[in-house]
Amino acid sequence: PRPILLTRHGESRDNVRGRIGGDTALSEAGELYAKKLANFVEKRLKFEKTASIWTSTLQRTILTASPIVGFPTIQWRALDEINAGVCDGMSYEEIKRNMPEEYESRKKDKLRYRYPRGESYLDVIQRLEPVIIELERQRAPVVVISHQAVLRALYAYFADKPLIEIPHIEVPLHTIIEIQMGVTGVQEKRQSNLR
Ligand code: F6P
Repeated sequence: PRPILLTRHGESRDNVRGRIGGDTALSEAGELYAKKLANFVEKRLKFEKTASIWTSTLQRTILTASPIVGFPTIQWRALDEINAGVCDGMSYEEIKRNMPEEYESRKKDKLRYRYPRGESYLDVIQRLEPVIIELERQRAPVVVISHQAVLRALYAYFADKPLIEIPHIEVPLHTIIEIQMGVTGVQEKRQSNLR
């Protein structure tokens, strides 16, 4: 069995302001998580010489990976957060107020709803295919540092969750989801109180 560790980036400045999308750096709490994550990963994967760290191309995941020493880091555009198109940088409140029809259609069908000039969950699931193929092919552990919507989709693939549940899966900040791929199937462990 070999582990796949899934985590969102440390809290970003946009997370603090309640804004979706964007490309901001980490908050202080986010930076602290990055340090704790590095500590955890360096211990957990100590003798795993061929392990690697995968991030998106957005600052907040790259900064979260940066304190981790001793493993190669690979950036994937396919791991970038769902593209919120014209809503990028807005808060949910602002979308509700300024674009109520968009807000309602997303609420009605979050899986299929596509942001104007952006993506839907189905789009994200589709663009993750090469990442999933590569994750399946890897024999060594991988740490995936990505974003809420993307990790919902990746997690659902490994945990075998139905499509319709994907947009609602809980993937909180500052939590490591460890997936063990063994001969007997998939096992999962969540850790959120890193020291
Ligand atoms: O709020 C953080 C975030 O990663 C946004 O950038 C993104 O639009 C959102 O979460 C995705 O979650 P949901 O699909 O529930 O809006």
